[in-house]
Amino acid sequence: MTNQELQSLKNRYDIIGNNPSLNRALEVAVTVAPTDITVLVSGESGVGKENIPKIIHQNSSRKRGKYFAINCGAIPEGTIDSELFGHEKGSFTGAHEMRRGYFEEADGGTIFLDEIAELPLASQAKLLRVLQSGEFIRVGSSKVLKTDVRVIAATNVDLFHAVSKGKFREDLYYRLCAVTITMPALRERPDDINLLFRKFASDFSAKYGYARVALTEDASIMLTKYRWPGNIRQLKNIAETVSALESCRLSPGSDKCVIDMDVLSRYIPREPENLLPAMSPSHQDTPESAAEREAIIRSIFQLKQDVEYLKKIIVEAGLANGQTHAIAPPEHAHMQHNHEPAEDVYGYDDDPEDQEYEAREPEEMSIKASNMGLIEKVLRKHGGNRKEAAAELGISERTLYRKLKQFGK
Ligand SMILES: Nc1ncnc2c1ncn2[C@@H]1O[C@H](COP(=O)(O)OP(=O)(O)O)[C@@H](O)[C@H]1O
Ligand SMILES: [Mg+2]
Repeated sequence: MTNQELQSLKNRYDIIGNNPSLNRALEVAVTVAPTDITVLVSGESGVGKENIPKIIHQNSSRKRGKYFAINCGAIPEGTIDSELFGHEKGSFTGAHEMRRGYFEEADGGTIFLDEIAELPLASQAKLLRVLQSGEFIRVGSSKVLKTDVRVIAATNVDLFHAVSKGKFREDLYYRLCAVTITMPALRERPDDINLLFRKFASDFSAKYGYARVALTEDASIMLTKYRWPGNIRQLKNIAETVSALESCRLSPGSDKCVIDMDVLSRYIPREPENLLPAMSPSHQDTPESAAEREAIIRSIFQLKQDVEYLKKIIVEAGLANGQTHAIAPPEHAHMQHNHEPAEDVYGYDDDPEDQEYEAREPEEMSIKASNMGLIEKVLRKHGGNRKEAAAELGISERTLYRKLKQFGK
């Protein structure tokens, strides 16, 4: 595989890093892709194992077939056989209809079985059979069916150890590990840590339209020294949290917010030295917890914008009138519909609630007027550059434009 091919593969799958073990893993994935060999992907949680089955499937002759990713650890033991192999109508309470399983649906395609060590022993026997002969039986049936599926499995525990403890079938283990692709832990690829952080910080600023967080030299070194038990997933979460909480006001002409080691250290957890990475449960992101995290980050992010904006209004109101007004905070309407842009809560929007707000108090009216004064002042400061002014005000350019129009500017 040439360097250029490797680079374009990384671009295609958004894979950052130049570590030799990572490159090797990607090369093996591309090499085995055209075959039907079963592949085992091993590596700690959060190292990026899920990219491998996707690469294999999309570079194989099965690429037009279906691809299913199934987390064996997330399916209750009682339903896993039915999920994988299907069931007949009436085969158990609640089986009102016949249902085809993943192995039947994926005929001609690929199945990725994540956390394979979590598969119960009885299901392991059924998996071995389908791997060896393509044969399987729906739950509640006696009819043998055939399918043509390529299986890629992943594990973050030592499968051989599971075999020695009687938790994993030895024959299945040997069947799965013919080709093993090992993804390196993040601490084994220190040179990639800052590349990854920069990528996540820049993705985050593009996604939320706010200042991009950058690190001082000592903060960068600190990142590379941490042991990253949750690997890339943990680094990504920390990059997002730091970006959300530390995004500071931009200085003109800059799009960065520089964080030093003291600030960064607040976000890096301390962990007991002897804790094995696989034993640390706090970095396992389920889709639900990831969504929850995102919602929390959005709320914090918006609250932060509110607070900064309010501060400005208070200062400005104080300056304009030679005193400080007691200003009630805006109602946090965005907490209910937090996908709305933050600026919509500042009481100068076009919706009916706003008109009501406008009619309420003369003092609030004067706040509104001083908003315009503030906007004009910030615009002057930036020589009329709306982009920079909007950034300093913490609102979008679109909103700034709307406000100017609204006030006939
Ligand atoms: N090389 C990489 N470059 C950028 N992001 C990555 C890379 N590897 C993994 N990620 C991201 O890290 C997170 C964890 O990856 P994932 O494949 O789910 O880990 P695992 O399955 O090993 O627990 C995902 O958000 C993924 O997009
Ligand atoms: Mg995973």
